[in-house]
Amino acid sequence: MSGLAVVTGASSGIGREYARRLAARGTDLIVVGRREERLRDLASEFPAVEVHTVVADLSTSDGIGRVIAAVGTQPVTVLINNAGVAHYKAFTDLPDEQAAELVGVKVLAPTLLTRAVAPGMVARGSGQIVNVAGMIAFSGPATLEQVPLRRAVYASGLAYALTLSQTLHAELSRSGVSVQVLCPGVVATEFHERQGLDLSATPRMSAADVVTASLRGIELGELVTAPGVEHAELLADVFNADLAAFGGQAPVLASRYRG
Ligand SMILES: NC(=O)c1ccc[n+]([C@@H]2O[C@H](COP(=O)([O-])OP(=O)(O)OC[C@H]3O[C@@H](n4cnc5c(N)ncnc54)[C@H](OP(=O)(O)O)[C@@H]3O)[C@@H](O)[C@H]2O)c1
Repeated sequence: MSGLAVVTGASSGIGREYARRLAARGTDLIVVGRREERLRDLASEFPAVEVHTVVADLSTSDGIGRVIAAVGTQPVTVLINNAGVAHYKAFTDLPDEQAAELVGVKVLAPTLLTRAVAPGMVARGSGQIVNVAGMIAFSGPATLEQVPLRRAVYASGLAYALTLSQTLHAELSRSGVSVQVLCPGVVATEFHERQGLDLSATPRMSAADVVTASLRGIELGELVTAPGVEHAELLADVFNADLAAFGGQAPVLASRYRG
């Protein structure tokens, strides 16, 4: 595989694993993150491909703009919108700046980066967009007992990635451009420890397995790839139920709301 991939959040965890796997396949890379040295170290691992590092804070419009400028008019074949932060806190405890950071990194940045590369992909009739969400995207209906530490903004950001991917998939279905949304469960990366949570005793999937699932899911033509969900029909059931509710409406006041 040759081509050019943009990987955000490539300085650790799942993003770094994507970068390594794509570089090993001969794909040139534009890798994005705030930790410059990590990105440089990553680039030095792969002298056989071109690796362009972009130090950018994706929670800022300046950072997003820097990535878009680095991409320019180059023919991007793969976009991996992976960067993310956790900030697990009750909604009322979450400082405004952390809420804004979550929305910036998980909502605005993937939206604008996808808008920057998708037209070129469509014009060339090929391309792959991957949005990294997580199983928490499905946790909205959970009670406080089921998910004690509610992560309203984080969970909503992942749900955005899911719906964005589903709707983009439909919109681009005849264009030759594919979309995947990746929904891992708990993964053994720096993600939790960076916010002071020790999950080392929790069973976790490796970033390598998560990326293996994503790359295999792309080969299988999957829109939603959930590495830890054995029974894929569970996902189909969720989406069929969504569609049933969506289609179950009428422009008539439902009887339970009348008099
Ligand atoms: N770990 C899990 O259990 C888990 C589960 C489900 C989904 N996910 C998702 O997987 C993705 C990758 O997470 P990970 O587990 O690999 O965690 P990680 O090791 O902490 O990696 C997160 C990456 O995102 C980058 N990033 C964070 N904030 C950024 C910002 N403002 N600007 C630019 N880059 C930023 C980080 O780079 P810098 O710090 O260098 O900027 C880092 O490369 C995230 O989107 C996360 O939501 C993780």
